[in-house]
Amino acid sequence: MPVALVTGASSGIGLATAQALRGAGYRVFGTGRRANGYTKDGVTMLACDVTSDASVAATVAAVLERAGRIDLLVNNAGFGIAGAAEETSLEQTRQLFEVNLFGLIRMTQAVLPHMRDAGRGRILNISSAFGFMPAPYMAVYAASKHAVEGYSQSLDHEVRSFGIRAIAVEPANTKTAFDANLAYGDRHLDAYATTRPMVHFMLKGMMETGDEAKVVADAVVAAALSRKPRLRWPAGKGKKFSLLRRFVPDGAFDKSLRKQLGL
Ligand SMILES: NC(=O)c1ccc[n+]([C@@H]2O[C@H](COP(=O)([O-])OP(=O)(O)OC[C@H]3O[C@@H](n4cnc5c(N)ncnc54)[C@H](OP(=O)(O)O)[C@@H]3O)[C@@H](O)[C@H]2O)c1
Repeated sequence: MPVALVTGASSGIGLATAQALRGAGYRVFGTGRRANGYTKDGVTMLACDVTSDASVAATVAAVLERAGRIDLLVNNAGFGIAGAAEETSLEQTRQLFEVNLFGLIRMTQAVLPHMRDAGRGRILNISSAFGFMPAPYMAVYAASKHAVEGYSQSLDHEVRSFGIRAIAVEPANTKTAFDANLAYGDRHLDAYATTRPMVHFMLKGMMETGDEAKVVADAVVAAALSRKPRLRWPAGKGKKFSLLRRFVPDGAFDKSLRKQLGL
């Protein structure tokens, strides 16, 4: 039975992905910061904070001890910060990068030695449509996901010869606890007082009409099982944005984005 490790499997896309992988025949280990080793619906949940070297090392060691292998890592743990770029402090920015980017790198570096030894493995990095398009009033989040894209695609070229593939999965607005778990810029500036709430209102509306987490989870399973994986794997509504980004000229894309957000 192939073994999958999914970070941030306590809710949303991670939870749906863990369940979908289980349905696809994987033995699944999920992580959450408050998990305590319980098994629910066939998914064993381990405590892991991806911002901690020791926690990540202990989690990977625990999976290898119990299952003897890790065939698939899904780097899913992440959160967003809403607010103008100028309203988000460097300290907040570091906290977000510590989870969305460095947490993903930390997990990747912890599983790669094992995957290289095994001569096989797949790493699916949950990016976002905001990994390839701008996200005004979520600039720091977009920056972290653009970084995930660069890391994931570069890594893929390095590890392919070891039988390992790294793929960036790109969901767009998905109905999860993401919105409820959003952090907000830690200082409000009058200069953005009119536009910030307007853009937030638009983004909130987009979340409410977003994909179900299961749609993204099914895309993750397809990327995990694909014989010919692509470096970028748009999921659900992410497919539409990916096509638009690729085929609409920059000027027209820019104009349309500003119009839709009322900028
Ligand atoms: N929802 C969307 O519209 C959307 C769109 C594109 C991409 N995404 C991406 O999808 C991924 C999952 O988000 P979601 O929408 O499913 O949101 P969610 O329901 O809020 O889930 C986020 C998960 O990340 C985990 N997490 C947060 N901080 C962590 C840390 N320091 N260490 C370990 N785990 C941590 C949480 O687990 P605990 O709190 O239990 O630790 C939780 O399971 C994120 O990377 C997000 O950027 C979401």
